[in-house]
Amino acid sequence: MAILMLRATGMLSGTVRGLIARGDTVHVITRGRSGVDRLRGQAGDHKGRIHWHRADDTDPQAFQAAVTAAWNDEPFDRVVVWGSDETARDRLFQIIAALAGDRRITAYVIRGSRYHDAPPPRAPDEIDVRTIILGFVIEPSGSRWLTHDEISSGVLAAIEKDRPYAVIGIVEPSERRPGW
Ligand SMILES: NC(=O)c1ccc[n+]([C@@H]2O[C@H](COP(=O)([O-])OP(=O)(O)OC[C@H]3O[C@@H](n4cnc5c(N)ncnc54)[C@H](OP(=O)(O)O)[C@@H]3O)[C@@H](O)[C@H]2O)c1
Repeated sequence: MAILMLRATGMLSGTVRGLIARGDTVHVITRGRSGVDRLRGQAGDHKGRIHWHRADDTDPQAFQAAVTAAWNDEPFDRVVVWGSDETARDRLFQIIAALAGDRRITAYVIRGSRYHDAPPPRAPDEIDVRTIILGFVIEPSGSRWLTHDEISSGVLAAIEKDRPYAVIGIVEPSERRPGW
């Protein structure tokens, strides 16, 4: 199975490693290749592959070319979208709806805890949206945000369970949200 991931070379690096370990093809779109090279170096022996496509996802033409190149390389049935740029997300939805034909695409949209009771983002009919909320953790010493490892493994588990809505950590009580 193939999956397209935006902004995947930071806190989602562990998700990419988990997906290729189970044999998936992961298309990654970033502006530079150093993050993908680092990921390939960390991945070791794996069944799946990472394909890198260069684009700034805020540049409409470059982004459309990169998504289309990924599709032509190996069509994907899932996408993972992280990042606060809703314009890039909506643009991605329009591009993949046009490419999808008869396929259905599942989009995992990762959002911060302030979106926990917001409606899911609107998407064309060809796309099934799953929302993954990044929450927080309460420990005896106080509240803290999730670590990158917790985010990566939580996103991997949410993709595997494939439910419409998932929370990593907790989002309530809101007065215990950590400060930035
Ligand atoms: N509840 C929570 O715990 C919570 C909630 C929200 C945020 N956060 C925090 O948010 C932080 C940010 O996450 P992150 O480090 O994964 O994200 P990031 O650094 O913004 O993005 C990850 C990668 O995406 C690529 N990228 C960035 N902008 C791009 C663009 N315009 N076009 C294409 N690619 C782009 C970059 O590679 P290139 O430079 O090569 O393009 C970058 O390495 C994390 O530290 C996380 O802990 C946490």
